[in-house]
Amino acid sequence: MKKTDNQILTIFGASGDLTERKLIPAVFNLFKRGFLPENYAILGVSRTDFSDEEYRKKVVFDNPHLKASKEKPDELDSFAKLVFYQSIDTKAVVDYQLLANRLKTLCNDCHTDQNYIFYLSTPPSLYSVISKNLGEAQLNTEEKGWKRLIVEKPFGYTLESAKELNNQLLESFKEDQIYRIDHYLGKETVQNTLVARFGNTIFEPLWNRIYIEKVEITAAESVGVEKRGGYYDGSGALRDMIQNHLLQLVSLVTMEPPARMDAESIHNEKLKLFRSLRPLTQDDIRDNVIRGQYLNSTIGDKEYLGYRDEQGVDAESRTETFAALKFYIDNWRWADVPFFVRTGKRLPTRVSEVVIHFKPNHHHLFSQRRIANSQNVLVFRIQPNEGILLKFGLKVPGNGFKVETVNMDFQYDGLTDAYVPEAYERLLLDCMQGDATLYARGDSVIAAWEFVDPILKAWKDDPDLPVYGYPSGTWGPEQANTLIENGHGWRNPCANLVDDGLYCEL
Ligand code: BG6
Repeated sequence: MKKTDNQILTIFGASGDLTERKLIPAVFNLFKRGFLPENYAILGVSRTDFSDEEYRKKVVFDNPHLKASKEKPDELDSFAKLVFYQSIDTKAVVDYQLLANRLKTLCNDCHTDQNYIFYLSTPPSLYSVISKNLGEAQLNTEEKGWKRLIVEKPFGYTLESAKELNNQLLESFKEDQIYRIDHYLGKETVQNTLVARFGNTIFEPLWNRIYIEKVEITAAESVGVEKRGGYYDGSGALRDMIQNHLLQLVSLVTMEPPARMDAESIHNEKLKLFRSLRPLTQDDIRDNVIRGQYLNSTIGDKEYLGYRDEQGVDAESRTETFAALKFYIDNWRWADVPFFVRTGKRLPTRVSEVVIHFKPNHHHLFSQRRIANSQNVLVFRIQPNEGILLKFGLKVPGNGFKVETVNMDFQYDGLTDAYVPEAYERLLLDCMQGDATLYARGDSVIAAWEFVDPILKAWKDDPDLPVYGYPSGTWGPEQANTLIENGHGWRNPCANLVDDGLYCEL
């Protein structure tokens, strides 16, 4: 177990939704599990005026996402004692002296060292302002304790703005002080892709173009944009999910084995991988990138608003709520293996999976029910029902050699004593311990942007590139199915994960 120094977590954007929904619950769970250091404090910072007591009421006592253990009813009271609040105008450099003084007082009162994490959970336009102001107030210097900056997504809006943001952050903080968070990397099954590949002898020798036919990655959500229409309309599925979460996932599934399990070795391999993504040409973007938007529809007896009717969304918006793309990785291991990635809102269910399709046998000895069934498939189920599924052929009892595909299915649920931490909980603890392995390094974030940026440019500049409508509760525009060749289409998730019974694999 790594050592966790005494420290203070400062959250900018302390009255926001993410703080209440994810950050405070993550720290609370660490508290419950005994992972916080002996001396610790959380300082919420935003413009709103709260006393410490008012802030504790908001984020601890009235927070529906915190649950005290039944046998420890005073748990919330003990946790609340760690929570403090300071109101400042984050744009005003003078206010950072207030912050510095408050942090010093907290260090004395709570007996912590001057080890500070600054969590930027504000609108992205404030990231560079806050980091600059922290620098001006000397809150970036490490003489009397380390300083770390966690930056939420989105990291940039285009390639140019991501580069600019990176440079601005680097003016006040060094690369090893900056933790760019991508909560997908905190998911247990995402990390498991590395263990499955590099911790077993049976997978890695097959993990290449000779044995793998194609790789599919799906991140489907059944919800729409909910109350985030204003943000989402300026973002879209490509920026919101693919540039970050899904490309990070691609990198873990495809990168070369790192020399060691440390941040630098893993980040180096990921960077190499991102730099091997074959750039998409104008033709590729026209033929191999599909975007869509959900339409108003009725599912069962429930009416769902179309995207353009959602609050905060432009009535003529061309922002995509669905995106699917096919691409290649130009390196020794993956040459000519197609990768298919899709994500969307208002799809039939919430499921994220990585599906590795192995090539079929060259020599068919047995009669198989269907050609598709003769292929081995390995599925990493990221969520829900976190687990791994391997499909392979077995003999049907009786005479002859009839082969059926069977599933070998491991689910984390089956490990009754396994505690699967929330992504934010895992990632926060890593940062508290100075481990950036599961955070994104600046150069690879930029390399991922280099791949995605031409698509955004093409969509912006070419009005002829279509945005297809799709009814809510379907797997997106029909056109996305033609992307996957051989007529097999995308793999539909298992029946128990789909609640409409229409799109599933039985
Ligand atoms: C966020 C996106 O980063 O990830 C959301 O902004 C999306 O639009 C969410 O809903 C999905 O995360 P998860 O963990 O629910 O798959």
